Amino acid sequence: MNINVQSGSILQAPSDLAVLGVFEDIALPAEVTSLLLPEDFTGSAGQNLLLYPQGAVAPRRLFLIGMGKSGEAKAETYRRAGAAAVQQAQTLKVAAPTAAVHGDSTVPVAESAQAFVEGFELGAYRFWRYRTGLTDAQKFTVEGVTLFGRAENAGALRSGAALGEVLARGVAFARDLVNSPGYVMTPAQLANEAVDLGARTGLKVTVFDKAQLTQQGFGGILAVGQGSANEPRFIIMEHGQATEGKPTICLVGKGLTFDSGGLSIKPADAMDTMKSDMAGAAAVFGTMQAVAELNLPLHVVGLVSSAENMPGSAAYRPGDVIKSLSGKTIEVLNTDAEGRIILADGLFYAQRYNPSAIIELSTLTGAIIIALGAHATGMMATNQALADKISHAGEVSGERVWQLPMWDEYHQMIKSDIADLKNIGGRPAGSITAGAFLAAFVGDYPFVHLDIAGTAYAAQAARPYDSIGATGVGVRLLTEYLQEISR
Ligand code: BES
Ligand code: ZN
Ligand code: ZN
Repeated sequence: MNINVQSGSILQAPSDLAVLGVFEDIALPAEVTSLLLPEDFTGSAGQNLLLYPQGAVAPRRLFLIGMGKSGEAKAETYRRAGAAAVQQAQTLKVAAPTAAVHGDSTVPVAESAQAFVEGFELGAYRFWRYRTGLTDAQKFTVEGVTLFGRAENAGALRSGAALGEVLARGVAFARDLVNSPGYVMTPAQLANEAVDLGARTGLKVTVFDKAQLTQQGFGGILAVGQGSANEPRFIIMEHGQATEGKPTICLVGKGLTFDSGGLSIKPADAMDTMKSDMAGAAAVFGTMQAVAELNLPLHVVGLVSSAENMPGSAAYRPGDVIKSLSGKTIEVLNTDAEGRIILADGLFYAQRYNPSAIIELSTLTGAIIIALGAHATGMMATNQALADKISHAGEVSGERVWQLPMWDEYHQMIKSDIADLKNIGGRPAGSITAGAFLAAFVGDYPFVHLDIAGTAYAAQAARPYDSIGATGVGVRLLTEYLQEISR
């Protein structure tokens, strides 16, 4: 999109639509209050009002967005306002609205501009690649927005808006990958996307195909992928390189391009969204794109284990014992608990970079949906300092995480009688035992597991800047964390 910044009063700039964010406790300019009966619009969060000022101010239409009390505002308040703004522009078919927030809040200017732009761009996101017969109204696209602010804030508005654009592009990229059907977004295609990403951004990309996985002993990825005609891949994306004083961070994603459950097959109504089982991988892709565009002064390695979990005559079976890349053996008791098996190899591989942190994302368990719903990502960690940083990034980015314990008792629940580990620990604490399983493959490296099964894909949009389907969760969270540690 085209995001511009201009100083001066939005009320004096001609436009087809001027969007004005309003705080409950900050009086509006007289030209606007004279258009209102004060009881009709208080500025409380979620209250919006479209006005036709009839020449009282320069814009032809004025859209007031209630943002609540200025002292209680968060970046998220601006993000939601951005989404409301673009959706109104879309409805009215205004390609280039103007926007401003009246009065200051507790949120710094750059942060507020970033969040507003994120909301504006993501609120306009549609995945209509496979739709035909769209109406003109549906085909209409908002081209951009001009943000108005005081002259002394122009620099902060500009830098914040630029950051918002990078983030929104990363999220949209992740959403596109997840929304693509499973027959399109196969492991090979996901690897192609990584190669394209490398060509676009300069990231160094390496892909291992089935022959290379076999040669190197990626037993987990191979076992899960063996029931599918679409062969597995392992994808490495690297930004920067290991240098003295520059931390290395490994991001690991679950890239299960379709999860039928395998021979422990899922019921139909649990399978229909399982093209989204590569949302962890998509979050890594979107983050790597943002990291490259921002050229963060870090060494960031994105690792994706990718396979398709299908039943078939060559499929792995309950009862099989797999030798993972680490050498540890895994007894398979349920082929639907496949994510942890492919991730075991990816996490073990991460150790070779001697990272300061390994952060892994996966749509790993249905149990996390029962625990937290769509409103937080489940977090499990072996290092509290790292977990605290991710929690903080969650608050700032609006992609909240909620930590679950990883006591020793949970690690006991996945010990096998005939192998080193078993791949299920029973229904109780299902999300935590899955996290405990993963932790067995990271050695002593600081490790955070993010279970995004509840936050990655939405049957109904949970937030105004979400759309139905993929949310792109993880991109804003991880990019915020990486920016914070590079300051
Ligand atoms: N991909 C699923 C988890 C999932 C469920 C993601 C719902 C998104 C929405 C995962 O591979 C899985 O099937 N997990 C099982 C594990 C069980 C067999 C121990 C689950 O959660 O039921
Ligand atoms: Zn599964
Ligand atoms: Zn899965």
